[in-house]
Amino acid sequence: MKEKVLVTGGAGYIGSHTIIQLLMSNYEVVVIDNLSNSKEASLKRVEEITGKSVKFYKVDLLDSEKVDEIFTIEKIDSVIHFAGLKAVGESVEIPLKYYHNNLTSTLVLCEAMQKHNVKNLVFSSSATVYGDPAAVPITEDFPLSATNPYGRSKLVIEEILNDLYISDNSLNIAILRYFNPVGAHKSGMIGEDPNGIPNNLAPYIAQVAICKRDALKVFGNDYNTHDGTGVRDYIHVTDLADGHLRALEKLNEKPGYVVYNLGTGCGYSVLDVVKAFEKASGKTIPYQLVDRRAGDIATCYANASKAEKELGWKATRGIDEMCEDTWRWQKMNPNGFE
Ligand code: NAD
Ligand code: UFG
Repeated sequence: MKEKVLVTGGAGYIGSHTIIQLLMSNYEVVVIDNLSNSKEASLKRVEEITGKSVKFYKVDLLDSEKVDEIFTIEKIDSVIHFAGLKAVGESVEIPLKYYHNNLTSTLVLCEAMQKHNVKNLVFSSSATVYGDPAAVPITEDFPLSATNPYGRSKLVIEEILNDLYISDNSLNIAILRYFNPVGAHKSGMIGEDPNGIPNNLAPYIAQVAICKRDALKVFGNDYNTHDGTGVRDYIHVTDLADGHLRALEKLNEKPGYVVYNLGTGCGYSVLDVVKAFEKASGKTIPYQLVDRRAGDIATCYANASKAEKELGWKATRGIDEMCEDTWRWQKMNPNGFE
């Protein structure tokens, strides 16, 4: 029998790329998404790419009755929990909405899993839980802290899941701390489709390249980095998706509560990314140097050797491929999924 995976937030950016890998590896996929930050078209594209179908429930995870009903109908084996609100700046403005959505949806999901005896959970955490790290590269045992409500919601969920595991050792929970996901599926048919003005670097640059925005604002050039601009560990979304499959396989070995960084271990500055994108697109990316963005840190990159050792996972796609794939998606879909 095929393993049936419930993917919450599956219509979103990372979820849709992960579902492709799941379907290609013969998992059966059920999606719950309220489409608050995504479009159903992404799942249609996933079906086109793979030639396989996805069972989709347009349901809010806050709706415990509907979630319970889905668990009754579907006989879920494992869950990958992507659903959540993720805009750092917005989380500072409307913290209650972030805490309510991200925390309560996780509680509702875990209650349904408990009731229906589902033991395996993969959770989307973030490198943001390391706050401003004292050193790089970052290993999983670094101290954790949060600098905004979004990050705090991730940190609190990690703690809740750890408490849950302590109360029931038969659970298997993989916390995946993503570094900076970028790129798109090779087909150019799915990719990141932010609402309004992009907060993140790669989609912003892509919109400058396609002339939807005039110029990139580079937030700060006085950091202690090789060119003064912020350094991050950009990871191709397809590598990230593969990491979820390796984590699911790991859960079948009953490891208990485990935590992994998913990053490449390489740091690139904002201007490095601009150069790589110019090379990939053949376009010039005009930019202005402006003040630092509040809450940003200088440098963040992973030591991802634990995932390599224990999951047999390693990112294989470099910055050029990330930019080429982002550009293909942007060029083929200037207005995203619309
Ligand atoms: P996304 O916004 O594209 O996907 C999240 C999906 O969850 C969306 O489709 C949204 O409609 C859905 N959703 C939100 N609240 C919901 C609810 N209450 N009920 C049902 N569906 C709901 O974001 P993404 O980039 O794919 O991120 C996926 C996960 O990874 C998120 O938890 C995010 O915090 C985490 N993460 C993302 C990044 C990043 O930079 N993209 C980095 C680290 C961690
Ligand atoms: N940047 C700019 N101009 C922009 C956007 C970003 O210069 O218009 C710079 C930032 O200052 C930073 C780098 O580009 O130095 C990356 O910024 P992003 O906003 O793309 O990503 P962050 O590292 O700030 O944060 C992202 C997600 C978080 C997540 C974190 C770690 O937005 O949710 O990665 O995974 F927690």
